[in-house]
Amino acid sequence: MLGARGGWQAFRRCASLPRAQRAVRLRVREALEAREPASEVKVQGWVRSVRSQKEVLFLHINDGSSLENLQVVADPSLENRDLTFGSAVEVQGKLVKSPHRMQNMELKAETIRVVGPCDTWSFPLKMKERHPLEYVRQFPHLRCRNNTLGSLLRIRSEATAAIHSFFQDNGYVHIHTPIITSNDCEGAGELFQIETPNEARESAEKTHFFNVPAFLTVSGQLHLEVMAGAFTHVFTFGPTFRAENSQSRRHLAEFYMVEAELSFTESLQDIMQVMEDLFKTVTSTVLSKCPRDVELFHKYIAPTQKDRLEQVLKNKFVTISYNEAVEILKQASQTFAFKPEWGSDLQTEHEKYLVKHCGEVPVFVINYPYDLKPFYMRDNEDGPQHTVAAVDLLVPGIGELCGGSLREERLPFLESRLQRLGLADAYQWYLDLRKFGSVPHGGFGMGFERYLQYILGVDNIKDVIPFPRFSHSCLL
Ligand code: 4AD
Ligand code: MG
Repeated sequence: MLGARGGWQAFRRCASLPRAQRAVRLRVREALEAREPASEVKVQGWVRSVRSQKEVLFLHINDGSSLENLQVVADPSLENRDLTFGSAVEVQGKLVKSPHRMQNMELKAETIRVVGPCDTWSFPLKMKERHPLEYVRQFPHLRCRNNTLGSLLRIRSEATAAIHSFFQDNGYVHIHTPIITSNDCEGAGELFQIETPNEARESAEKTHFFNVPAFLTVSGQLHLEVMAGAFTHVFTFGPTFRAENSQSRRHLAEFYMVEAELSFTESLQDIMQVMEDLFKTVTSTVLSKCPRDVELFHKYIAPTQKDRLEQVLKNKFVTISYNEAVEILKQASQTFAFKPEWGSDLQTEHEKYLVKHCGEVPVFVINYPYDLKPFYMRDNEDGPQHTVAAVDLLVPGIGELCGGSLREERLPFLESRLQRLGLADAYQWYLDLRKFGSVPHGGFGMGFERYLQYILGVDNIKDVIPFPRFSHSCLL
């Protein structure tokens, strides 16, 4: 019997067709996982290797459905000069048990059609070569055909589905928050402004497309807060944009953020529990759904990551306060480029030290200084504007993976803070939310690329996105 249910149903539908049209199309993965032989199947994909012997022609083909290739065995008479590494082919024949120990099934070809030839001279990927990532990075439009980056994109897809399932299974409503907005949620000034070409040219007498300046979103949080006021538990998972140092190994100008917002929540611990559950559930799902793809990273890219991750999944994350973090840093024997001081932001070097100090495990740092954090965070009232109920989740090798907080739900507190910042008019709508059934609430955001970087042990964040930008002069 064929492994895939879809494949079987297609079989029945095709039984009455003429022979040539009867073949059932299988993905490479379905063919490899089939439990029984089948006649009249068709596989489409790209040639990963061609080996011609006197008696037999061997091909390996891949269609992106699995890391493993499907072996095709053919009569040498089926060889033709367009049948090269990189060409696109359609092979029809019989799926049979493979005599090789390392593979389950192989395809005995009856016909091989070259759908799209490939000029192997100019094709930058070469047969059987294990290209280093630095080499593959030069070809953003072709790199998805490389094994490592192919695995990564399958893992990315599986992790995306697992994130949606986690929230849907826990009763959250998915919200599409706007990409174009006039809010600067984080207030850090790292905005990309949107203008039509005419507006850009006539920037002296500013007229705006929307009558107000518009930006690419830096976070969907404020919009999620609107929705949390009706649905209690909401999430969004979409692109966010920040005009910050694009040369860094952990910063992108365009990245994906998973954000959740929970109403009727008075404790930061509740928010931290969701962060931890999200991380553990999604990671376990990815490990079990893409074992071969993950193994490639844990074998060749980050050999110690597998054991460490298994430990992380078994143990509770550590929590320290910002006060404790500063004390730990002050007592460190290491000298830092930025001197640790109460009231200063934690730099990446500090975050990495803290994680190491706690045993190379994920660490929550809570209760940051009031002045360091955005206007929406809830005052802890432990002194005059001393700390806010904020949390950052730090992870080994990366630093900050998630940022979250309780939100200031009390109108007088929020109003006076916005007034001091001169933002009260712009955020009238946000203040309104504190007038009409305001409830304690909070939420967080997790950087999706940093998440992938961490679980796979990838050093450069640009390797975990489908279309990386290594320079400002080449946008694919
Ligand atoms: O800590 P951040 O700035 O938090 C917020 O934007 C909140 N409004 C989220 C919320 O509470 N709903 O960003 C959240 C996460 C960071 O912890 C980091 O992992 C990631 O987004 N991030 C970036 N990832 C890649 N490139 C960048 N330039 C990033 N900036 C932030
Ligand atoms: Mg942050």
